[in-house]
Amino acid sequence: MSTTGSRLNGKVAVITGGASGIGAATARLFTQHGARVLLADMRDEAGAALAEELGDAAQFERVDVTAEADVANAVAAAEREWGRIDCIFNNAGFGGALGPLDETSEEDFAITLDVLVKGVFFGMKHAAPVMKRQRSGSIINTASIAALQGGWAPHIYSAAKAAVVALTRSVALEMAEWNVRANCICPGLIATPLAVGRGFSDQVVARFKDAMADEQPIQRVGEPEDIAHCALWLASDESTFVTGQAHVVDGGATLGRAWNAQPAWMRRQRPITVYRPPGR
Ligand SMILES: NC(=O)c1ccc[n+]([C@@H]2O[C@H](COP(=O)([O-])OP(=O)(O)OC[C@H]3O[C@@H](n4cnc5c(N)ncnc54)[C@H](O)[C@@H]3O)[C@@H](O)[C@H]2O)c1
Repeated sequence: MSTTGSRLNGKVAVITGGASGIGAATARLFTQHGARVLLADMRDEAGAALAEELGDAAQFERVDVTAEADVANAVAAAEREWGRIDCIFNNAGFGGALGPLDETSEEDFAITLDVLVKGVFFGMKHAAPVMKRQRSGSIINTASIAALQGGWAPHIYSAAKAAVVALTRSVALEMAEWNVRANCICPGLIATPLAVGRGFSDQVVARFKDAMADEQPIQRVGEPEDIAHCALWLASDESTFVTGQAHVVDGGATLGRAWNAQPAWMRRQRPITVYRPPGR
């Protein structure tokens, strides 16, 4: 599905969580469209390997997004290397605290919010001065459909992603004065190591993807490139009038149940008639 072109020619992007899944797919697509990307991630090996694959257009920095100094250094490194920052994609994430409410520890609560909310906050905070000086920039944060609907992810993850949506809107209002936009993407089920798991055989992954596809109104699994293409549009000059929005990319997963799939008793209650204006 990936494309090549010039939609990001001359632009510089920082991508957190850039060593895997959605972040890695976005880094590939951005460079195919002329951008230079700084990959910021905790996975040294995967991050360095991807940077090597992408050549001069990419650089890897080891970053823990919960450490403010790490994030500040990554932003500074991108500006030092390429002289500007047009986009920061605050995308690093994990599943966070699992399990029932009454078994969730304060420690697990804290680390989940640290990675998913504080990490996004640090990215926006440190990119902001550069973008304000330029009087342009696109901040993109990865939220989730779990921010919008119950049942897609664990409690604290869902709360954290809802916080990302609210934070994005609030920041968008402040930054608009400097022509800096802030949007988030709410992915549905996307076949990345986060959703599928790491270290499984290709066969197990394929079975899992089939099962995921069955859950989507659009009868295929969501791929990291589906999110990368939304990020490409948000990073490009095609979306310069779009800010403060939560863009849902989920194959229709949050739309509810199709009318013709409602139980028969529900469909039967409604008479099959068409409203006609009087006299017709
Ligand atoms: N896969 C899905 O179904 C799905 C759905 C909705 C939202 N998301 C979100 O998409 C984003 C990307 O996830 P993915 O699915 O590509 O998963 P992934 O596991 O493939 O990639 C996540 C990356 O984030 C990095 N990361 C985690 N904690 C970090 C930290 N503290 N500092 C720096 N890097 C860190 C990981 O090392 C990894 O490379 C996450 O924010 C996730 O919550 C994913």
